Amino acid sequence: MDARERIILALDVDAENKALGLVEKLIGSVGAFKVGMQLYNICGPLIVHRIQELGGRVFVDLKFHDIPNTVAAAARVMTALNCFMFNVHAAGGREMMTAAVQSVQEEASRLNCSAPLALAVTVLTSISPQQLHDDMFITNRSVEQTVVDWALMAQECGMSGVVCSPQEIAPIRQACGSGFVIVTPGIRPLWSAKNDQKRITTPRDALKLGADYIVIGRPITAAQDPREAAQKIIDELEDL
Ligand code: C5P
Repeated sequence: MDARERIILALDVDAENKALGLVEKLIGSVGAFKVGMQLYNICGPLIVHRIQELGGRVFVDLKFHDIPNTVAAAARVMTALNCFMFNVHAAGGREMMTAAVQSVQEEASRLNCSAPLALAVTVLTSISPQQLHDDMFITNRSVEQTVVDWALMAQECGMSGVVCSPQEIAPIRQACGSGFVIVTPGIRPLWSAKNDQKRITTPRDALKLGADYIVIGRPITAAQDPREAAQKIIDELEDL
C-alpha cells in the first residue's frame, strides 16, 4: 500500500465548508477522511456524499452500540452510503457484531456495491485500568487482555478489524494475524505538538508495530501548511 493511502485525516471541524476546504486541500495527500460525531451530527449523511464527490473515501466514526437489530440497520445505512469504513463498540457483544457484519454483506450484495470495512472499538483509550475495574466491573483482566479478547471476539464475528491505541497494535496483531485491519489514532510525528494526546506513537512506529491505517488530525489540520505537513509524514513513511 502506498504510504499516503495509510493516512486517514480526522475532520474534527464544526462546519461543512471547513471540512470540504480540508478535503480539497488534502485529497491527493491522504487515503481517507474521518467524519466523527460532531461533523456528522451537524451536517448529516450528506457530508459523506460531498466528500465522495471530491474523490475522498470516508471513515464514518460513529461507534454504534445498541441492540443487534438497530446496529444491523445502521450498518445497512453505512453500506448504502458507500463509506470506506465505519465502527461499532465491541462491548455491544457477539450477537450485535455478527448482525452488523451480516447486514453489511446483504446490503452490499443487494446494491451490488463494495462492502465497507466494519471495525470494532475495543476499550476506549480514555478508560484507565482503575475505571475498567471500578466503573465497568471488569475485575479479572487487564486493559490489554480485555482489548485482545474483544479484538478476537470481533474477528470471530467476521468484523474486518479494530480501532485501537498504538500501545495495543502489537498484541492485537499477534493474536489476530495479518489479515485483520488495525486502525490507530494517537499519532504524533516528532516535530508536532502533542496537544491533549498522552500515549502517542510516531506514524512510522505505528506502521512498524503492525498498524494498517493511522488516524491523524491536528498535526496536519493545524499546521501552517497542511499539505506540507502531510507530505512530511508521507516522506517519513515511504522507506518502510
Ligand atoms: O487531532 P488528533 O490527531 O489528536 O485527532 C485524532 C482523532 O482520533 C480524533 O478524531 C479523535 O477523536 C480520534 N481518537 C483518538 N483517540 C482514540 C479514539 C479516537 O484520538 N482513542
